[in-house]
Amino acid sequence: MSGKRKILVTNALPYANGSLHLGHMVGYIQADIWVRLQKMLGNTCLYICGSDCHGTPIMIQAEKLGIAPETLIENMRQDHEKDFADFHIGFDNYYTTHSQENRQLVETIFKRHMNAGNIVKRTIKQLYDPVKNMFLPDRYIKGECPNCGAKDQYGDNCEVCGATYLPTDLKNPFSTLSGVQPVEKESEHYFFKLQNYEDFLKQWTRRGHLQAQVTNKLDEWFNDGLREWDISRDAPYFGFAIPGEKNKYFYVWLDAPVGYMASFLNLCERNKDLRFEDFWGPESQAELYHFIGKDIIYFHALFWPAMLHGAQFRTPSAIFANGFLTIDGQKMSKSRGTFIKARTYLQNLNPEYLRYYFAAKLSDRIEDLDIHFDDFTQRINSDLVGKFINIASRCASFINKHFGGKLSARCAEQLLYDDFANAGDSISECFQNMEYSHAVRQIMALADRANQYVDEKKPWALIKDANKQQEVHDVCSMGINLFRILMIYLKPVLPQTAGQAESFLRVPPLQWQDKNKPLLDHPIHEFQPLIHRIDPKQIEAMKMAAKQDIEKSTAQASAPTVEPVQTKEKEFISIDDFNKIDLRIAQVLEAESVEGADKLLRLKVDLGSETRQIFAGIKSSYQPEQLIGRQVVIVANLAPRKMRFGLSEGMVIVASGSEDGRLYIVSPENGAQPGMKVK
Ligand code: MSP
Ligand code: ZN
Repeated sequence: MSGKRKILVTNALPYANGSLHLGHMVGYIQADIWVRLQKMLGNTCLYICGSDCHGTPIMIQAEKLGIAPETLIENMRQDHEKDFADFHIGFDNYYTTHSQENRQLVETIFKRHMNAGNIVKRTIKQLYDPVKNMFLPDRYIKGECPNCGAKDQYGDNCEVCGATYLPTDLKNPFSTLSGVQPVEKESEHYFFKLQNYEDFLKQWTRRGHLQAQVTNKLDEWFNDGLREWDISRDAPYFGFAIPGEKNKYFYVWLDAPVGYMASFLNLCERNKDLRFEDFWGPESQAELYHFIGKDIIYFHALFWPAMLHGAQFRTPSAIFANGFLTIDGQKMSKSRGTFIKARTYLQNLNPEYLRYYFAAKLSDRIEDLDIHFDDFTQRINSDLVGKFINIASRCASFINKHFGGKLSARCAEQLLYDDFANAGDSISECFQNMEYSHAVRQIMALADRANQYVDEKKPWALIKDANKQQEVHDVCSMGINLFRILMIYLKPVLPQTAGQAESFLRVPPLQWQDKNKPLLDHPIHEFQPLIHRIDPKQIEAMKMAAKQDIEKSTAQASAPTVEPVQTKEKEFISIDDFNKIDLRIAQVLEAESVEGADKLLRLKVDLGSETRQIFAGIKSSYQPEQLIGRQVVIVANLAPRKMRFGLSEGMVIVASGSEDGRLYIVSPENGAQPGMKVK
């Protein structure tokens, strides 16, 4: 027997700007099963994760909601943690990239690379939104494809003809944030010279740290040549400021993987038996595994080892990439009701069904994985309920009814028992090698044998014969012991059921090696059904709820998709168009800040014949008390908008566009009265 292994496992850090969906759960469930097995084997295995909090999308999302990014990421972190806990994902630590630990580690890594000459500064031209006053990431630029002319294409590739290009190649480009045409603007950026690590990476990627498919993909990238990586972004940006710079930030993908280290460092601060150096130092003897999805391989298999190696930290032992989830054979779709949030699933179905279903389908290859809901229902009902749980439910009643709830003192079929126990090595090997579907297949083959055994012995018939009582006791005890072995093998997949089985069997938490010794002359409790059959109605209810989620979220989306603003020829509106807008004088009666929204003020205004509540994004420029009593101009016939804080029934007219972003409320001359029409 080898000594105890020391292992650190990480999962990709989910972005803190949206809810988790079933696609996310693939990688988390995969890693959690692996970790639980290692723990059962007696190895030290620490499992960490956290929120990925920086970047433009998070900043924009917070702005849309009218809350501070800090509030958004904190809310999302709580939501994600709850989803993970309810899916029984047992992280040892869940932290955040927006932390002091992370800032320090990123600065250390950055400085070490600066000193080693791996980072250079260069001026580049990028597209800039002159209204939002910010540089635009590619995904916020749309326009016409330079190749086929298709409208409304993203800044990097055309969904119609498949061409790839630079955002500067787009015809009639516009910013999806403001709708205006972006302008080119220069800015100085920091670049990480990835090509300095070409030799190191070529070796590293071929030393068994990666799945074969990943190594092949990397070969393509090597052939294309490694390029410098832009690791800085200009303000406004939500992230860590680059030391010694004004208005420049580290790009989110620089600090995101460092978040793994930060989460572990935070764990060390709370658990004094752990030493950061032992896991991350250059001499670390511990194993380090990253579980990620296939879309983020480039960052993990190239940049990350280079960043670590060059900054005198250890590199990963291996990276495991999972494929993407499809539902009923297709990409998750909002209109078909197959875009299913983790929470929506949890409100309708047992999380262990999904854990089992994924386990039954996962392999060590990067293949997409499909949930076909008919197959899902059939698989759970037949494997888990019909085969596995059935063994315990058919045997336990005899033990409880006829034998005082105590298992027999002898193992009736030692050979059969040994077969079950010996299968454990191969099953554990499959789990460790990420071949979960093979492991599950072996376990279910054993479940079939256990059921056959009971079928052949027919305890329900024997019990009628007064001379066969001992045999019934032995057979049913055997059945319970076989069930117990299967429960050990399924415990990484079904931790909750395992907990219930442990109390049914009156045993301490099951470990892998417990398979070797049967329970003899041992009291058990009454049997409670551990897993219930799926009723297809539950699936329908979940799909329904998923559709409603989507409708709700589109109805609530506060900013409609932005259309391009015509800048070349001005488009005129007719007087009728103008007359559609009902502008009115209103007098502010109340004004107050809104908790959880750092840009909004809640106003109550008098419109002459009625009062209205309006949420106005003017907090940066006005104190609430300055506004009380003041007359303003409002759009009185704007459709009421439901916001998180309440209903907004109108819009206050302000002048904007100053250098510093200050807003100026438009007010009438003295003497105007609330309710007067503005024309
Ligand atoms: N924040 C980055 C990861 C940073 S790690 C230093 C990120 N976040 S994510 O929220 O978009 O995705 C989290 C994980 O879920 C990633 O591993 C991603 O590959 C995975 N998946 C996202 N959608 C998925 C599916 N539809 N199917 C399977 N995995 C999916 O990426
Ligand atoms: Zn095209």
